[in-house]
Amino acid sequence: MDLNIGIVGTGWFSKVHGDILAGMDGVRVAAVSGTSLAKAESLAERYPGARGFATLKDMLDGTKLDAVYLCVPPMAHGEIEAELIERGVPFLVEKPLAAELSTPLEILNRLEQKPLIHSVGYHFRYKASIQKLKEALEGRVIGMALGAWMGDMPQVSWWRRQEGSGGQFIEQTTHIVDLLRYTAGEVEEVYASYANRVVHNRFENVSVPDVGTVTLKLKSGAIANISNTCVLPGGVGEVGLSLYTDKGILGWNPDRLEITGAEEKNTYTMNDNPYMKESEAFIHALRTGDSSGILSSYADAVRTQRVTCAALESAASGKPVQIEN
Ligand SMILES: NC(=O)c1ccc[n+]([C@@H]2O[C@H](COP(=O)([O-])OP(=O)(O)OC[C@H]3O[C@@H](n4cnc5c(N)ncnc54)[C@H](O)[C@@H]3O)[C@@H](O)[C@H]2O)c1
Repeated sequence: MDLNIGIVGTGWFSKVHGDILAGMDGVRVAAVSGTSLAKAESLAERYPGARGFATLKDMLDGTKLDAVYLCVPPMAHGEIEAELIERGVPFLVEKPLAAELSTPLEILNRLEQKPLIHSVGYHFRYKASIQKLKEALEGRVIGMALGAWMGDMPQVSWWRRQEGSGGQFIEQTTHIVDLLRYTAGEVEEVYASYANRVVHNRFENVSVPDVGTVTLKLKSGAIANISNTCVLPGGVGEVGLSLYTDKGILGWNPDRLEITGAEEKNTYTMNDNPYMKESEAFIHALRTGDSSGILSSYADAVRTQRVTCAALESAASGKPVQIEN
């Protein structure tokens, strides 16, 4: 029998997930809801047989769904997850979990009371290059790590508002923080410095910083720096994470992994689609109850959120912030 999936949100990323789901055997995009019926119906037209609904409640009352994908801005989280957990509907939620920490902590508490199959959209974990990097770490000691998310400012209106997105480190650079945790282990302390240099002069209503640098101390004893900016012109940028180890450098970016040692330099380019693998793992879990292929759980993603929110707190206070682990 086909699995019926609902989507909350009618923006860019709903289409990305919806198109992948619609292309999978035995999976149907059956329903869409968002902030208006018109927008929901417009996206639903893209998927044969799908219906648009004005609200999440209408969608859940009006269709029998096997799972829901949540592709909404950071500030819109909380009630949606609470409703899904209450009704026992599995979900895949896009990162970040929210623009702050209190909503994810409350949702985590609800999930612990009433567990269900779920997944969080930290898709880089599914890249073959990241799995290769994890294998290559075997037997190495990490000294330190350097990560970056350097780019331009996304043009959706919520992104530039602090309460809308949480700012670049919480909204975007969270991917690199998550990869640092996934490859090098938990973070114990952060110290951050943020500033507003360019973007607030270029656009209206900008309340997020546009440059930031964050020093992280890891439980293992290793240290790291992850920096970000959104001042660059469109199309110019770099995103990645490099681990400096006793046997050489493991340099990762979304296009390749480069392993450099005293006598070797190997470059691995892998053009796999991590969004596809992420959905395959989630759909497999829905079909079989086996969640072992899901690489990011809500509880794990809360740990990433703790780090990114602690960085914001540190930038505001000028003091290092300890992370609860
Ligand atoms: N994993 C990734 O690589 C990746 C890539 C892009 C976006 N994302 C994430 O996906 C999320 C959505 O991004 P996007 O680019 O699609 O944004 P978008 O602005 O294009 O779309 C957001 C949608 O959410 C809807 N929405 C807003 N508030 C809502 C509410 N309270 N209830 C229901 N719907 C609501 C809006 O109407 C809009 O349709 C963001 O959190 C973003 O970080 C992840």
